[in-house]
Formats: sequence, structure tokens, C-alpha cells
Amino acid sequence: MSSTKPFVTLGIESSCDETGIGLYHSEKGLIGHQLFSQVDIHAEYGGVVPELASRDHIQRALPLIRSVLKGANLSLSDISGIAYTAGPGLAGALLVGSAVAKSLAWSLKIPSLGVHHMEGHLLAPLLEDEQPSFPFVALLVSGGHTMLIDVKAIGKYEILGESLDDAVGEAFDKTAKILGLGYPGGPALAKLALEGGQDAFKFPRPMIDRPGLDFSFSGLKTFARNTFAKYPDQKADIAKAFEVAATSTLMIKCRRALEQTQRDTLVVAGGVSANLSLREELDAMGLKLKVKVFYPRQEFCTDNGAMIALAGHLRLSKGQVTSGGEITIQPRWNLEDLEAV
Ligand code: KG4
Ligand code: ZN
Repeated sequence: MSSTKPFVTLGIESSCDETGIGLYHSEKGLIGHQLFSQVDIHAEYGGVVPELASRDHIQRALPLIRSVLKGANLSLSDISGIAYTAGPGLAGALLVGSAVAKSLAWSLKIPSLGVHHMEGHLLAPLLEDEQPSFPFVALLVSGGHTMLIDVKAIGKYEILGESLDDAVGEAFDKTAKILGLGYPGGPALAKLALEGGQDAFKFPRPMIDRPGLDFSFSGLKTFARNTFAKYPDQKADIAKAFEVAATSTLMIKCRRALEQTQRDTLVVAGGVSANLSLREELDAMGLKLKVKVFYPRQEFCTDNGAMIALAGHLRLSKGQVTSGGEITIQPRWNLEDLEAV
């Protein structure tokens, strides 16, 4: 047994509209996490207002950190390193997390590290008991990204395909808006789709006839708008047709990526991985192809601090740091540029 002191990583997520805090312990795993969602603040505007997001992160970050530490019976002096989301995301929102992380780390004389938000999503299934083993194919589906990635190891990512226009979560949100459902649209649209008829409408599966693994979802949203203009009384049927088209397109491209790479494991993460029809489709595909499919638990599909604590922990505990006292962010950041661990 090693007698070295455990390494405790504090994770701070503030890239968009939730403040998430997580605490990851080298021996016990995740020992605390809390989230404050700004949904109520942005709902009346029908989408995220960046300035309001930054201001709220400022108010929430420190009280949430205190509360998570208290819940784990720890104090600031027990933290060994701090991980914060450095990008991609809203610049003002990212600056808040970065400023809190850098100043805390400086005052505690501990290292800090800027984490890539999408690496956080990608590694979130490692917070579960049953974990995927490397290498695997990852499907990352969030409000800002749709990507298929060949994950060779932590930090060794090859992007196989991505969306050429709207991200799939964005298409869910925009279609929900067209149908007059509130913000955030994804979960609302999924709920309404439960009442829709399977065969009322058939929407196209964009780009499946073309080779390659890129996506395009903006046409699907336009198709929904045109259908709604013609059939304004069939909202649930339209929601259903949209969801079926979006999720089966994702499934078809996953199957292609798995065949191309010959990997036997698929990881699905990001906000849209919470979608139950997507999970059903991918599970059925997994059974057919003899591919194991992994997801984060529901609450860790969407943005959270636990995934940032974990992703940061895997790097900080190996000595990786973002050096210097400057408050730096990377609002645009290619996943392929990350350092290997
Ligand atoms: O990962 P995430 O929390 O934030 C980003 O990094 O973007 O993803 C948010 C996205 C939103 O577009 C939201 O509508 C979508 O995930 N989403 C869903 C569901 N839950 C969240 N989309 C479809 N079905 C859901 N159940
Ligand atoms: Zn996210």
C-alpha cells in the first residue's frame, strides 16, 4: 500500500449556463459535486444571454465550492489541484471559472489546469462503476458540438467527423423554439415526441448518402419549420419525426465509424446523450454489431463540475499544469491539439 497523500482535485465548470463544481479524490473517486443551472435566468429570453451568464457564475462559484467542500467534510487546505474549463465556451463565462481557479490556486499554492470542456464530456463515463476501456469511438453530442472521435488514449484524439452547420443539440433547441416549446428545447422536444405518432411524418436523414462521417442538421430544422407551417396542429408528430430523423442519423454515422475503425466500444456523451430514443437506437445497434455502448449517468450527460474534476484530475495527478498566474481561456480550442497523458 502506498503511503502517499491522496490527491484531491477541485473541478470548476462555467463554460455556458451552468455553474458546476466537482471534487475528485485519487482513492475514493468522485466525493462531491453540485450544480447551479441558470435555466430560469435565460428562459425569458429564449436562449443563453452571455453577459447574464457571466454575472451569475461570479455569484455562484464560491458559495458552491464551499458547499461541495462542506458536503465532503473537507476544507480548502485539503485540495491538491484545481481544474477549470478553459474552453470551448462563452468567453465571459469561461473567464469567471478561470479567474476563480487561478486565484484560489495561487492563494493555496497548488497547481491549476485548464480543461477542454469536450474532453470533460468524453471522459464522463469514467465516473461510473462500469467503465469503457481504451481505445474506443466517441460520439459527442452537445449544444455546441457534434463529433465522432477515435479515442486512442486520454489526450490522443482523432476527429473522424463533425457537424458542418448546427450541432445536434442546437437543432433540437431550434426546432423546439419553432414548435413554441420553451428553453432549453432538447428535453422539452423529447417529452413532446413521446406523444407523437411513429409514422405521421418522415423527415430526411441528412448526409447519409454521402461517404464520410460529417453531419449536417440545419436542414432538419428547416424541414420541421415547413412541416409545422403546413400542419400546425401536429406538433407532437413533428417532434417525433424530428427526433427519429436526428437520432437515426447519429446511429448510422456511429455504425459507419465503428466499421471504419474496427473498435468494439462506443462512448456517447454530451447533453443529447441524455435522450432516451438515441440510447435505444444505439443500444440496439450495439447488440447487432457486438459493440459495448457506454453513457454517463443522466445528470452527467449535460454540463457539470464532476466531469471537469475528473478530466483535470487525470492530468493534474500526472503533473500537467497550466503554468503562470495569468487568467487565460481558450474559447476556441481543437480537441486534437490536447497533450497526451
Ligand atoms: O452538453 P450540454 O449540457 O452543453 C453543451 O456543452 O452544449 O448540452 C446541452 C444540449 C442542449 O442543446 C439541450 O437541448 C440538449 O443538450 N439536450 C437534449 C436532451 N437533454 C439535453 N437533447 C435531446 N434530448 C434530451 N433529453
Ligand atoms: Zn457541454
